[in-house]
Amino acid sequence: MKPVKEYPAEVYLNGSWIKPQQATISVFDRGFMLGDGIYEVTPYYSGKAFKLKEHLDRLQYCLEEVQINFDAYPIAEIMAEAIERAGLAESDAAVYVQITRGVAPRTHYYPEKISPTVLLYAYPVKLEGFENKEWKVLSSKDKRWHRCDIKSTALLANVMANEEAIARGYDENILVRKGYFTEGSHSTIFFVKHGTVFTHPEGPHILSGVTRQVVLDLCRDLKIKVREDKVHLDELVEVDEIFLTGTTTQIVKVASVHSLEKEIFTPRKDTVTRQLQEEFLKLTRGK
Ligand code: PDD
Repeated sequence: MKPVKEYPAEVYLNGSWIKPQQATISVFDRGFMLGDGIYEVTPYYSGKAFKLKEHLDRLQYCLEEVQINFDAYPIAEIMAEAIERAGLAESDAAVYVQITRGVAPRTHYYPEKISPTVLLYAYPVKLEGFENKEWKVLSSKDKRWHRCDIKSTALLANVMANEEAIARGYDENILVRKGYFTEGSHSTIFFVKHGTVFTHPEGPHILSGVTRQVVLDLCRDLKIKVREDKVHLDELVEVDEIFLTGTTTQIVKVASVHSLEKEIFTPRKDTVTRQLQEEFLKLTRGK
């Protein structure tokens, strides 16, 4: 059974707080018509934002890359207000922010004199217990574009991949481009091979995950060797552990990787995954 999600009680749309049923946009909004928009998801642990600056920095970077003229930083106050208004000031939550280029007659070029459409809302998220999860993942072809560093709302290739996994009872995909693992449909992939942690280098084929950077910093603190290098499908036989990271995923152990035909990976250990989960808990919960 697929999980059923609920709408938030209200959303912030272009300066007003309104009920989702009343929050409407033009059919000519370029986010709706062309997927011409950027989004961001920021986690809140017991009501407190985690790595807010990093999330806003990435939002600002993406907006600039696609020339949407919008200052991301002042939105921090509205995000905090969303948490308060949703009654989540003491709870675990996330804030979704979406900025589209705005409304204009349809063109393939960027229209002039257009103002962005801003949508934002807070929603409860269960962030506890990630360390007890073990995900079965499907290895799928990475069919996405060559600017995966841009957190675009145009997620059809991610959605198609994730549907393939969820419909078959898997928890997530790991995507493969030209024989190399890139990332998950909504997460970053890490491999542990001979005691060294590997993850795909930053660039146009992955999103620069905020949690990815947190994990890399933790590895350096823990003196775990790290290589920001691609891992090939054929190297799976030498891999001891795989884990996935993300804002709401946090750090999840991969229990098995499957192709459509057979199981292609079973972990031999989980030592590094457990060590990083423990440190991540200290960082987010002060435990
Ligand atoms: N997804 N890669 C992809 C393709 C993602 O969509 C995400 C996050 C990540 C992890 O990034 P971060 O650690 O900054 O969350 C990597 C978000 C949460 C989403 O689409 O809902």
